[in-house]
Amino acid sequence: MDILIKNGTIVNSDSTRKADILISNDKIVEISDKIDITKNCKLIDAIGKYIIPGGIDPHVHMSLPNPTGNSSDSFYTGSKAALYGGTTTIIDFVTPERGESMLTALEKRKSEAKDTLSNYSFHVSPVEWTENTNKEIEQCIKEGYTSFKVYLAYKNVVGLNDEEFKQVLSSVAKAGGIVTVHCEDGDKIDELRDNFVNKGKVSPEFHPLSRPAELEAIAVEKAIKFSDEANCPLYIVHVSSALSLTHIKDAQQKGQKVYAETCPHYLLLDDSKYLGDFKNTAPYVLSPPIRKIEDQNALWNSLADKTIQTTGTDHCPFMMNQKEVGINDFRKIPNGAGGVEHRLELLFSFGILKNRININKWVELTSTNSAKIFGLYPAKGIIAKGSDADVVIWNPDIDRTISVKNHHQNCD
Ligand code: URP
Ligand code: ZN
Ligand code: ZN
Repeated sequence: MDILIKNGTIVNSDSTRKADILISNDKIVEISDKIDITKNCKLIDAIGKYIIPGGIDPHVHMSLPNPTGNSSDSFYTGSKAALYGGTTTIIDFVTPERGESMLTALEKRKSEAKDTLSNYSFHVSPVEWTENTNKEIEQCIKEGYTSFKVYLAYKNVVGLNDEEFKQVLSSVAKAGGIVTVHCEDGDKIDELRDNFVNKGKVSPEFHPLSRPAELEAIAVEKAIKFSDEANCPLYIVHVSSALSLTHIKDAQQKGQKVYAETCPHYLLLDDSKYLGDFKNTAPYVLSPPIRKIEDQNALWNSLADKTIQTTGTDHCPFMMNQKEVGINDFRKIPNGAGGVEHRLELLFSFGILKNRININKWVELTSTNSAKIFGLYPAKGIIAKGSDADVVIWNPDIDRTISVKNHHQNCD
């Protein structure tokens, strides 16, 4: 059955227009000022509503393995929550064990993701450099997986050293892909974390102190330098600090292909969240940690001036009983928090309604730019004739409070 959406306001990243939309076989087949209803057509009246391209969350971790058990949203529950919040595509990660081929891990991850309700894709992580890595990168690209995620933190499990990182950049550049990177200086952070714990400083308060903004910025500077040498496009995930932004802006002004992502929690929360008892602070243990008000302001400005192109949630929730494993040692608290359901509404409420961004920018930041960077455009990221019918009808008049009582994410 076809679907006709009438009387709505279509918002793309570069235009706003009142028009009707006809959908057939999961594609947008017509957009015009007035489309008449035909037989065999479901009618949706979107008067007073915005019609936007489905949100694309370029950074989620469903069922992420962790010593405390997997992150608490499965592909099924997490994608269901995403859809409730207007996100119709999620990009998760393939993270092999060291010694395991990326291609084997990719097949396993596809099978874990088979119950996903939304569209989905993956970034693939080289977690070491072996004689097979180059070939595996080429094969992933042949199969349509063009983005490779590298960690400069978490050195003892997935993090790469400088030589491995350079090899990945050079290989991905030659194969025509993009490298995405978690920027934090893993070695220095491990040292700081151990120093705090050895002095009995074990509470979540010491999580941000052991991962200062300077150590993010050092890694950002290094990643930009290495990717410039390798001539490889670079996408820096979850940028949280003003200092990192200065390096990113410099590189972009020199013409380097460097993209940046930030997350709602860095735009809306500050490090006072780490002051208090374990129950109230452990939920905010995520990396990089939540920063200062000055960083928040710099991030909002960087959305406006285009230093930052995308927003992701880094959705990686854990239940409180998982967080409690680190009650006597903050290093053992699983890092991450939920958010896949709330990105669009948070940016709508605190971005548009607070006059920090306009409605077209909202679409650009939540959908269009991720589609362009990760090869999904124009099938996704735009409401246009011929595009996928990943259509969100957005009611701007809903007023509600985000709560564990009404959300759909599997986290407490
Ligand atoms: O704390 C976080 N962000 N956990 C998920 C893994 C990562 O670093 O993105
Ligand atoms: Zn990360
Ligand atoms: Zn992440």
